[in-house]
Amino acid sequence: MGLPGEVYAKNLTPTNLASYTDGELFRAITTGIDRNDNVLFPIMPFPHYAHMAEEDVYSIIAYLRTLEPVEGNYPDKELDFPLSLIINTLGGTYQGPPNPPSSSDKLAYGEYMVRIAACGDCHYPGALGQLDMTRPFAGGMEFNLPGGIIVRPGNLTPDTETGIGNWTKEYFTERFKMHDPNVTPYMPVELGQFNSVMPWTMYAGMSEEDIGAIYDYLQTLEPIHNPVVKFTPPATE
Ligand code: HEC
Repeated sequence: MGLPGEVYAKNLTPTNLASYTDGELFRAITTGIDRNDNVLFPIMPFPHYAHMAEEDVYSIIAYLRTLEPVEGNYPDKELDFPLSLIINTLGGTYQGPPNPPSSSDKLAYGEYMVRIAACGDCHYPGALGQLDMTRPFAGGMEFNLPGGIIVRPGNLTPDTETGIGNWTKEYFTERFKMHDPNVTPYMPVELGQFNSVMPWTMYAGMSEEDIGAIYDYLQTLEPIHNPVVKFTPPATE
């Protein structure tokens, strides 16, 4: 995926995590600092998880403890210089509230959901790790996939022409719910087919209230005109 080195997503089952204490997991998830004091590659969205409510982090840890152990341990990351040095300055500090905002406060709750679901990591313009903070959620970052395919996350601002300003809450919800949460995310696709990259199947398991709160929050953003071509097929010879 054009990352500066080789990075493996780690095994989250007890095979790998059994010897971690809850405190070590809490720190890794919310600050990106692992138990050997190394900083995780920030494609792991710990800068967002730094704002997750304590209760939610505890729930995640409790859930991870219940997983069946699955074999497989993967090498440590190998980053290119100078990132291999800089990375260790990137660890964060935990800033989360004890409890998530009340779901009756739709906007605060929606903002919280958008943040901890890390929607902005993909839906801000710019490049992975170098987001254009001046145009929040305007979309258009390029994902270069094998076979010359380019995928770009859409504009989530309420611009009526290029964003989701004309979408109803029903349509927005349906776009998530039409996917089967039991299907493996990021389905392996044959070369030449589109892989949306958008984790539709993961988010399809969210409740309609949560998706609705996300919609309500996104509709309060400043509309930004930014036409996005979501898929570019491989150039034909
Ligand atoms: C890993 C990157 C990634 C993350 C994280 C992500 N998206 Fe996306 N999203 C994409 C890509 C790529 C597309 C374009 C392809 C597609 O439509 O399937 C997309 C498309 C969409 C669309 C359709 C837009 C349109 O114009 O048709 C919506 C709505 C959307 N995302 C909402 C969200 C929300 C809300 C979140 C957080 C809960 C989120 N996305 C998180 C990558 C991401």
